[in-house]
Amino acid sequence: MVKRCVLVVCGCTIAVLVVVLVVFLVVVLCKNNTNNNFKDTFIHDCEEMTAEVHSTDCVGVWSAFEQAYVGRDPCQVPPEAYDPLLSVAPPLPKRNKMLFWSGIKEMAHQLAGDCYKTLETTMLGSVLDEKTWCGKKGSNETFTSGCPGWTECENNPVRSFWSRASAEFAAVACGDAAVLLDGSRDTPFSPTSIFGSIEVKNFTPDLMKSLTVVLVTKDNVGANCTDESLKNLQKELTPSIKYICTEKTESELLTCKKKQDKSCVPCW
Ligand code: APR
Repeated sequence: MVKRCVLVVCGCTIAVLVVVLVVFLVVVLCKNNTNNNFKDTFIHDCEEMTAEVHSTDCVGVWSAFEQAYVGRDPCQVPPEAYDPLLSVAPPLPKRNKMLFWSGIKEMAHQLAGDCYKTLETTMLGSVLDEKTWCGKKGSNETFTSGCPGWTECENNPVRSFWSRASAEFAAVACGDAAVLLDGSRDTPFSPTSIFGSIEVKNFTPDLMKSLTVVLVTKDNVGANCTDESLKNLQKELTPSIKYICTEKTESELLTCKKKQDKSCVPCW
């Protein structure tokens, strides 16, 4: 009887240990898999994006990327941490075809298509768009969950990347550029947005000839070019950059986009 009890207890203990071990292995493997997935996807997307243009050492780009946040407190990653990354993979400008936006990301990308270059269609922008990442003090891993949110702390890895990349994207914009602003917002030009607080301040007057503000409204309801917030935008612009404003409805723009061919004649 005692022998049977001992056997049952031992059996149960072994079964519990096996279950614990399996759960532990699954958790560890899944975690590494997530991190490797992020790295592999980064390198794969980088290679795809650069294959046609010029050969890029995407493993080197990954190293420059991770050095910005790995091993750091995820609330202490300033935009400058990405300087090495931006110097190995700078945004390549497209003359007269640079498109900025604020508040209407989806619309901007529907209209951009293959005609315009947005930050999200540059190599780094497209690789990191809609992604989350961070590091942790004392760890050399990349985490893709449990990272601080956009407003949780200013110097978080994701926000700092977009701030730094936006500054660089704006600095190389050349010729006639455009910005799509959301005309249904109370302040279509927000001085605290990335466009208002970073991009406008980083335009290079010697490179940029003009900025066309396209105020996008829903069926003519919303702000127009006399909007008070646009005066602040004009004040921010160096006088040598010509300021143009035009009002367009969403449907006007989308209809025009449908008809647009490879000549990319602007819809504004
Ligand atoms: N919380 C979460 N995400 C935010 C927040 C926030 N409070 N504010 C901004 N973001 C992120 C989101 O990913 C959002 O889609 O920034 C994006 C753009 O925010 P908007 O207010 O719509 O626009 P803006 O801040 O002006 O940034 C757009 O910056 O990315 C560059 O070149 C791009 O011109 C574009 C501009």
